[in-house]
Amino acid sequence: MGLAAIDVHGLTKQFGSFQAVAGVDLQVNYGEIFGFIGPNGSGKSTTIRMLCGLLRPTAGGGTVLGYDLEREAEQIRQGIGYMSQRFSLYKELTVRENMQFYAGAYSLTGRTLQQRLDAVMEVTGLSARADQIVADLATGWRQRLALASALLHEPLLVFLDEPTAGVDPLTRRDFWGLLYRMAADGMTFFVTTHFMDEAEHCHRLACIDQGRIVASGDVASLAARLPDGHKVPPGVPVLEEVFVALTEGRLKGGAGHKLDSH
Ligand SMILES: Nc1ncnc2c1ncn2[C@@H]1O[C@H](COP(=O)(O)OP(=O)(O)OP(=O)(O)O)[C@@H](O)[C@H]1O
Ligand SMILES: [Mg+2]
Repeated sequence: MGLAAIDVHGLTKQFGSFQAVAGVDLQVNYGEIFGFIGPNGSGKSTTIRMLCGLLRPTAGGGTVLGYDLEREAEQIRQGIGYMSQRFSLYKELTVRENMQFYAGAYSLTGRTLQQRLDAVMEVTGLSARADQIVADLATGWRQRLALASALLHEPLLVFLDEPTAGVDPLTRRDFWGLLYRMAADGMTFFVTTHFMDEAEHCHRLACIDQGRIVASGDVASLAARLPDGHKVPPGVPVLEEVFVALTEGRLKGGAGHKLDSH
């Protein structure tokens, strides 16, 4: 196992003549909750799919969980957990049956499978709903089921692509409580969100815009990039101001600066 959970350089994805991701450098430490924020279409999901070993980079590379992105994509896919932005569940099946389906991809069977199903349902609070049909579940419970399915094989690193989209505030808070507890147990999370109050809970973040990382660091260091004399209105998360300034091209320091890794 390498020192960093994620260590990639120059990650690039070209779709025809369009460059969706344009030379992204990222270093994420084990045990971190790392936030990845940026406007719609800025390249977040595309970057995640490359980091998961699901999409081959056009250029650049590095390691995820110590495995080489180009040569060991299969080991990466087996080692990480991934909750995709448009995750799919079988609505006519129960919670347990859905998880059993996902477990197949990781060759979990028999007693081990039963133990893992019980463990992830316990940790995500799904135990009482194990035999409920997914069609009858509220959105927040479906998100938890998608998360639970991504945790079955005990991954050390989990990618969550907008895990709380469409979820109410209380459920979002519970979801983040869960991530915190798991991170405290040593798991690493790479998470995208459009909720800036949530993003503030991340240990470190990177902001992406038009396929390039334009700012990164902890919340305080990102806030320091707001224009001089900028006043954050009361009640507004400071990261929301950072996000707006980023989108309007007003962040200090300009784009393409060197990433600080701590
Ligand atoms: N397979 C593809 N072929 C062509 N273009 C694509 C493909 N996948 C993504 N794109 C384009 O690449 C850009 C980045 O898309 P991506 O899904 O990574 O953005 P995102 O930051 O995740 O956005 P959102 O916040 O809306 O989820 C978009 O302009 C998108 O239309
Ligand atoms: Mg996306």
